[in-house]
Amino acid sequence: EELKITKICCIGAGYVGGPTCSVMAYKCPNIRMTVVDKSAERIEAWNSDKLPIYEPGLFEIVKERRNKNLFFSTDIPTAIREAELIFISVNTPTKNFGNGRGRAADLKYVEDAARMIAETAQSSKIVVEKSTVPVRAAESIMHILRANQKADVRYDILSNPEFLAEGTAVADLINPDRVLIGGEQTDDGLRAIETLSWVYERWIPKERILSTNTWSSELSKLAANAFLAQRISSINSLSAVCEATGADVSEVAKAVGLDSRIGSKFLQASVGFGGSCFQKDILNLVYICEGLNLPEVAAYWQQVIDMNEYQKTRFSQKIIECLFNTVSDKRIAIFGFAFKKNTGDTRETPAITVCKILLEEGAKLEIYDPKVEAEQIFSDLTSASVTENPEFVRQAVKVQSDPYTAVERAHAIVVCTEWDEFQSLDYNKIYGSMMKPAYIFDGRKILDHDALQKIGFHVQTIGKKL
Ligand code: NAD
Ligand code: UGA
Repeated sequence: EELKITKICCIGAGYVGGPTCSVMAYKCPNIRMTVVDKSAERIEAWNSDKLPIYEPGLFEIVKERRNKNLFFSTDIPTAIREAELIFISVNTPTKNFGNGRGRAADLKYVEDAARMIAETAQSSKIVVEKSTVPVRAAESIMHILRANQKADVRYDILSNPEFLAEGTAVADLINPDRVLIGGEQTDDGLRAIETLSWVYERWIPKERILSTNTWSSELSKLAANAFLAQRISSINSLSAVCEATGADVSEVAKAVGLDSRIGSKFLQASVGFGGSCFQKDILNLVYICEGLNLPEVAAYWQQVIDMNEYQKTRFSQKIIECLFNTVSDKRIAIFGFAFKKNTGDTRETPAITVCKILLEEGAKLEIYDPKVEAEQIFSDLTSASVTENPEFVRQAVKVQSDPYTAVERAHAIVVCTEWDEFQSLDYNKIYGSMMKPAYIFDGRKILDHDALQKIGFHVQTIGKKL
């Protein structure tokens, strides 16, 4: 069969670019994948035995394809020049300055990438927007590229949002629910869609590859994240009702989720959702709606975020209340700091909010997470949005590499991440080394609460009166 594409470049070697291209290289041995980044440190890590991100199964794939048809490089111009197809998977954080501050997506890095392509390309390219962007962002990329177009160079711009979740990135990429490709509905646009589709068809059944117009594709990505986050906020809102009435949120979620129209996934009540994207993408959607003069729609989605803030704060307040309204100078063990299990990522993790509130009340924290580096925890907890006094935080926080050390003489344990290993710890031993009364606050509903109560723990969890 004719090879429609032989060389792909990906700009941005982060949580999306790295795993996506690694799996593509693994599934398409005849395509040469080059992942480039302006961060030399990140690229060096991708070329080492300690990858810059942790994902189950990722290292095995990287090791197998690296320097065969998978390359990590800081030489961005060369990679752009050689490739027929270029993914842009740079970060699109919430703007923290100027117009739309705190809500709009900052497209600076996407624009930088587009300008780099415009400057270096000497042949035609398919440019694929993989980053999550506002609706009509592809138009801006198109303007930049086409305004700088050289003779004999033409650009097709596609939207191909990524739906992988962290912690399951490799499995999601190997076996996605769907691949979405948006493009211009012209002959050239449709041909570009077909070409990218051909790449995915190397391992994904054609029925699962969906093509739409560009704006639908861009909006679908924001919509999917908004729907997912909305389910969590919905169940979390009910968890408060459960705690006040004696209903059990797990039972409610099960009963509701068995309706096949509703479905059972993503109804796990928790301390709140975290991660780099849900909040950012919904804020972006809200901002877009306001710009379109649709204030009712904006307010509707804003509630998903407000409910999440409420949940994180409500859980933290409950800890303080249970500990006799004072945590001042009390040692509190924090189990888990990542925003979910099987990742070392802490972006927007609810653990930050919980720790912030406890620190403000004078608690001493002993933090244990199996994958998050101590340096990362300190950098998160000493950031300007958490404290005005980083030195105070450094004094009040210890990061432990062993959960049993973290609980010694602690008044309470707070579970912030649902790591499997927290279920199999020796809680008899833990109880023995803690201050009494010993409290456990299970923000993830993963522990055996009956067994813990039998040991002597006072247990509090989300969505159930114990
Ligand atoms: P990330 O911060 O981990 O990685 C982005 C990388 O791009 C960084 O390494 C940065 O150095 C690099 N970069 C920025 N500008 C550059 C430039 N001009 N040239 C070269 N490199 C540049 O971000 P991420 O988590 O991979 O997210 C990337 C995009 O994908 C975002 O838009 C995000 O919303 C979206 N997304 C993320 C996830 C996820 O699970 N993290 C899932 C789906 C979609
Ligand atoms: C999410 C989406 O699931 C992906 O499809 C999407 O590609 C990605 O965002 C993105 O655009 O970045 P991710 O944030 O990596 O993926 O992880 P999720 O599994 O969605 O979890 C997000 C947060 O919600 C976590 O803090 C998790 O603990 C929490 N959560 C999830 C719950 O509290 N309850 C649930 O039932 C499910």
